Amino acid sequence: MEHGSLSWGGRARFVGLVLEQNLTPRPPDACGGGIRGRGSIASRRRSLLLPLGRQITNRANALRLKFSMQLTFPELVTPPPANTLADPAAYRGLYAFHKYWGKKPAEPMRYLIQQLCPEGGLVVDPFLGSGISALEAIQLKRRVVGIDINPTAVRLTRMLVSPPTATVLDEAFRRVSAVAKEAILESYATAQKKPATHYVWRNGVMEKVWLTNGESRSRVELQPSEQDIALVERFASYQPQRLRAPRFFTNSRINSSPSLTLKDLFTGRALRNIELLLAEIDDLPDAAQEPMRLALTAAVGQMSKMVFAITGRGKTTGASSEKMEVGSWVIGYWRPEQHFEVNVWNCFERRVQKLIKAVAELESAQITAKAGQLPTVCAGDADYAILNDDCLALLPQLPNKSVDLVITDPPHGDRIPYLELSEMWNVILDEEPPFESEIVVSNAKERGKKTPAYNEAMSRFLEIASRKLTDSGFLVLFFNARTEASWKFLEGFNSSADTAGMTYCGCFPLVYSAASVVQDNRDGALRTDYGLVFSRAAAAAHSLADIPGWAFTLPTPKE
Ligand SMILES: C[S@@+](CC[C@H](N)C(=O)[O-])C[C@H]1O[C@@H](n2cnc3c(N)ncnc32)[C@H](O)[C@@H]1O
Repeated sequence: MEHGSLSWGGRARFVGLVLEQNLTPRPPDACGGGIRGRGSIASRRRSLLLPLGRQITNRANALRLKFSMQLTFPELVTPPPANTLADPAAYRGLYAFHKYWGKKPAEPMRYLIQQLCPEGGLVVDPFLGSGISALEAIQLKRRVVGIDINPTAVRLTRMLVSPPTATVLDEAFRRVSAVAKEAILESYATAQKKPATHYVWRNGVMEKVWLTNGESRSRVELQPSEQDIALVERFASYQPQRLRAPRFFTNSRINSSPSLTLKDLFTGRALRNIELLLAEIDDLPDAAQEPMRLALTAAVGQMSKMVFAITGRGKTTGASSEKMEVGSWVIGYWRPEQHFEVNVWNCFERRVQKLIKAVAELESAQITAKAGQLPTVCAGDADYAILNDDCLALLPQLPNKSVDLVITDPPHGDRIPYLELSEMWNVILDEEPPFESEIVVSNAKERGKKTPAYNEAMSRFLEIASRKLTDSGFLVLFFNARTEASWKFLEGFNSSADTAGMTYCGCFPLVYSAASVVQDNRDGALRTDYGLVFSRAAAAAHSLADIPGWAFTLPTPKE
């Protein structure tokens, strides 16, 4: 591995996904530029070379947050050693509660925030997703502005950074159980006097009914009885009363089309039960409503007709097996010929219990940071702002040279059409996201989301972001793309007047926990993502070289 800092001397060109680099090695002190209130570049650099945990700068002391910490998250505020990036933990607790698309591991977020932003400094994540960066920043006592265009992402993040207590959730769940459980379970009643846990359907015909057997909870598989058929017919014509019609586009990659309705995705019975739950959630105390609705979004995929049957192999072992197992809603709106209808109450209960467990684990380590808006966070009067908007519209409102670290995982070209895939969640939350402002490449022609527009938007983001950074600020992009075209936005990064002076520090491969759900297994997908680090000051971040796989060159992603 080559050591020493490299800056992008002029344009970098990608050819066949291999970057033709025009990288000019610069001596460590080659670049000037003041560092607002943080001493000289040399001292800044020295601070980067300090052992982890001793990197509190003068500016940080001046800007020390008014975090009202009750207790800290002891295991999380401990600076992680660089090698944790090579062996990240599986998503646990609140991070595991919802299957937001494209989640990034917490370890690199934590490590880089700790390394590249002083305590009290300002972190911005303009493509926030499920909010991992925001929580990590808050735990590390940095101020943070998180932005996402997806209401689901923003509402999940707000809960993540300000979770309800287990007591509130417990009580809320008891209340929902008292009023809705019986009515819901009645819709799954069987001749055996037990509610069905699952039905197996094939091409619209019910093939099997599953129950659990008393104490042992082992599975009983039955042929559908007349009662089972009569019950399903009772709900067959159910029309959603409060859920809005979903908005889908013609996207064969995710099996969606504008004519797709909720009735295509759910049985009438499931829709009726989902709406029953929503009605009961409306009657809960304010503090409990949002987490319960979010629990419903987390469970809704498993309540749909998109849960496939795993046959011929064990679900976890992969070894051949006669036993049919329940798959999960994975990606897109594919409705398999053979699918499960899972008991809605069971799905909901499981999710809520998972949430209760996750917040109970946190309770002994509750952190109370002050929520605010963009101006109050910038002024140091609040700790965080989680904002639902187009980042290209909001970022310009940040004062120039005010941000210590932009750390973000932007949409990767045509990898994941977030809003299209989040539509079921946004329907549950009664949100109508602005599809037109999403930065993405979509196969849905009617959206007009093509690569050139994506590249232009990403270049605009880079240009604004670099203007907002302090003279010693950093930009970290988690990125990968399957096509050369999707890397193009990096080309002009160093060429415009506004972005002049950004130095490419290096990159490292992102490692995912083998135990975490990988939502995109295609070649060139998640497992080969990179963290790319850029700096306003030259020759910074030497200590990043401790990160396993760190390279001073640009990545050469595989097709
Ligand atoms: C790769 S995901 C982020 C995932 C995140 N790192 C996580 O761990 O969950 C990219 C995010 O960019 C958001 N996004 C797309 N266009 C946007 C825009 N114009 N402004 C703000 N956010 C946008 C998407 O909604 C999506 O949540």
